[in-house]
Parts: sequence; C-alpha cells; structure tokens
Amino acid sequence: MSTHKSEKFTGHQRIETSNLLMIVLVLATVFVGGFVEIVPLFFQRSTTQAAPGLKPYTALQIAGRDVYVREGCYNCHSQMIRPLLAETLRYGEYSKAGEFVYDRPFQWGSKRTGPDLHRVGGKYSDDWHRIHLINPRDLVPESNMPSYPWLATTSVDAAALPAKMSALRMLGAPYSDAEIKDAAQAATGKTEMDALIAYLQVLGTAAATAKKEASSGSQ
Ligand code: HEC
Repeated sequence: MSTHKSEKFTGHQRIETSNLLMIVLVLATVFVGGFVEIVPLFFQRSTTQAAPGLKPYTALQIAGRDVYVREGCYNCHSQMIRPLLAETLRYGEYSKAGEFVYDRPFQWGSKRTGPDLHRVGGKYSDDWHRIHLINPRDLVPESNMPSYPWLATTSVDAAALPAKMSALRMLGAPYSDAEIKDAAQAATGKTEMDALIAYLQVLGTAAATAKKEASSGSQ
C-alpha cells in the first residue's frame, strides 16, 4: 500500500499532528482564559474590600484560627456556602468574597464530612461548643467527629500573637499599634479551647454585625 508521504496536512489537522504546536496553542488558550477570569478579581471591590461589618480577627480569634488549622478541621469542614437553594436553606446566606479578605490563608476547604461552618458563629452557645469539642458524641450520638479534649487544658501561645498580628497587618489587616502591643495580654491565661470557640463564634457574622451597628448608630 502506498502511504502518501507527500500528503500535506492543512488547518486543524496540522495542529493535531504536531505535538509542539498543540502544546503551545493549548497553553496560549489556558493563559488567555485564566487571565480573563482571574485577573479582574484582583481589582474588583467586591473581592478586595471587606464586607460591611467585617472586622479583622482579635488576638484570641487568631490563636483559635491557628488551632483550627493545626488540628486539620478543614479536612472535614468547608467554610464556603454556595449560592444554591439546598445550601442556603441548610446553612444560611451564601458566602461573599468580601467576607474573607482578612483570612490568610482562607479556610474554604473542599471536603464536607461534617457540615459547612461559615455561618456557625452565634448558632450555638460557647458551652455547647465546649462539650461538643471535648466529646461530640455527648451532643450528637451518631457523630464521627474526633474528640479534642486536650484543647481545654493546653494554653494559648500568647507571646507569639503580636508577631502574627504584625504579619497580618503587613498583608492588609488594619490593626493599631495598641492592639498589637496588647495582643499577648489579651490572650494570656486562655486555653486553646477558649481561642477556638472565640474563632468559631465570629465566623460568618459580618452581616449581622453591620446590621447591629447600623441600628445602634441611628439611635
Ligand atoms: C473526621 C471529620 C471531622 C473533623 C476532623 C472535624 N469535624 Fe467537626 N464535625 C464533623 C461531623 C461529621 C459533624 C456533624 C456531627 C456533629 O455535630 O458532631 C461535625 C460538626 C461540627 C460542628 C457543629 C456544626 C453544626 O452546624 O452543627 C462544629 C462547630 C465542628 N464540627 C467544629 C469542628 C472543629 C473546630 C474541628 C477541628 C478542631 C472539627 N470540627 C473537626 C466531622 C469532623
């Protein structure tokens, strides 16, 4: 059989039969797509400005956030309510980009063995969280969440907090010098459990805070 060595590929055939050309064009397409979708996010107000009512984490809340990260809570819990009816009915108002501007890094997560925690702030009492973290099965018998009893007895590393807050200020969190100076004192004598609960109780509460401030401001 004669193979037509001299046969010329044209148009799309030429791209599909040349590895190099295919790779270059795929990369160019991905680059343009990424540029158009990602770059504007760095400049939009809705993604770069704090949502109304959003406050940077207090010293104790930062300590709690670090416990959350260290213990890997994000492996089972997301903090990202999607704008879908089933989600908003279960968890509340969907998450907005402006609610995460002080989260470095954000804790959106990608796995939900347990429920989303973005609006868990204010949902339960501090005591509920304390009992739940020491042994989830005391409150939810069928729970497979691990117990974290040691958090009730380990104390917060308060001395590390001023440096952490300075770093966060460099990244845009508007802390005052006084807040940074007082950070260690604010968390002294607190347990990691206190800190984690302080963090959980502020999650997703920005809108409620804004509403409260607006109504007290008008009085
Ligand atoms: C192995 C997976 C797993 C890990 C790790 C885990 N959880 Fe959970 N969590 C669950 C499950 C499942 C539930 C639902 C049952 C329950 O309430 O215990 C839950 C429920 C919760 C709830 C109640 C949420 C609600 O709306 O009722 C909170 C708060 C919570 N977890 C916080 C944490 C924190 C903080 C950590 C890290 C210290 C953590 N979880 C680690 C699986 C996990």
